Amino acid sequence: MPDGKVYKQGWSPDDVGWEKFDASKVEPWMLAAIKAAALVEFNAPDYVTYLKRIFKDAGEETIASIEEWGREESQHGQSLGRWAEMADPGFKLDETFARFHRGYRPAHFASADEISVRGSRRGEMIARCVVESGTSSYYSAIKDAANEPVLKEIAGRIAADEFRHYRLFFETLQKQDEPDLPFWKRLLVAVGRITESDDDELAYAYYCATVPADQEASTPYNRAEIAKAAYNTSLRIYRRRHIRKLTQMVARAVGVNPQGALTRLAEALLWRMLRVRAGFLGVTADTTA
Ligand SMILES: [Fe+2]
Ligand SMILES: [Fe+2]
Repeated sequence: MPDGKVYKQGWSPDDVGWEKFDASKVEPWMLAAIKAAALVEFNAPDYVTYLKRIFKDAGEETIASIEEWGREESQHGQSLGRWAEMADPGFKLDETFARFHRGYRPAHFASADEISVRGSRRGEMIARCVVESGTSSYYSAIKDAANEPVLKEIAGRIAADEFRHYRLFFETLQKQDEPDLPFWKRLLVAVGRITESDDDELAYAYYCATVPADQEASTPYNRAEIAKAAYNTSLRIYRRRHIRKLTQMVARAVGVNPQGALTRLAEALLWRMLRVRAGFLGVTADTTA
């Protein structure tokens, strides 16, 4: 498969060349990242329920696109989980997901509130754009960093979907019959969503992915420690160019020039934050572009 191949929408796990799987090319740190990503992706139905509540008056087309988005995200979880089960026969996606789902239930999923936690539908779409900026750059980075050929293919397929999701939410943002948000509010929503990456979702997924159920008692969940390990893994995956792309996409969603000085400054800060948070635990960041 040539690098840089762009995959079309509408693929299914059956389209993946599973027969090319090469166990000798699986790296344990990458396997941990993939298990955690599978759990987060597999949680999509909860997001669909929440988004459909927020957008219930936004028209059939928007509701249908939210449902299709959710199907694609769940499929990402399925494909990543299947790969992780091949790489580690002791790992079971369904069982590990049940554990993750029991332990991670954000308040806005449980409530019946029809107003977005971001304050408005436009705010919600900016937050979704931030998430899709993150996932598209993350899977692009995994595609580039992975040695195992099937993982490379899956990451390439998922990255292409995530870029399309960004476009979908960006267009949905423009379509809302709400007044445009002032710049400071857009920025606040984006920064708020970025800092939420520190909440339990990613850290707890990483914990469930790396600590088997029968070791929970001896290795209890410690968010700060687990988050550090997860940052550490991210630092092995990301290159500066992926952080650049991520920052440019977030800038565009907020209404800032993606090529401007402010965006370049944000990129430098984000890259530095990632390295500091990882605490340089024996990881040498690849500083190549
Ligand atoms: Fe996804
Ligand atoms: Fe996505």
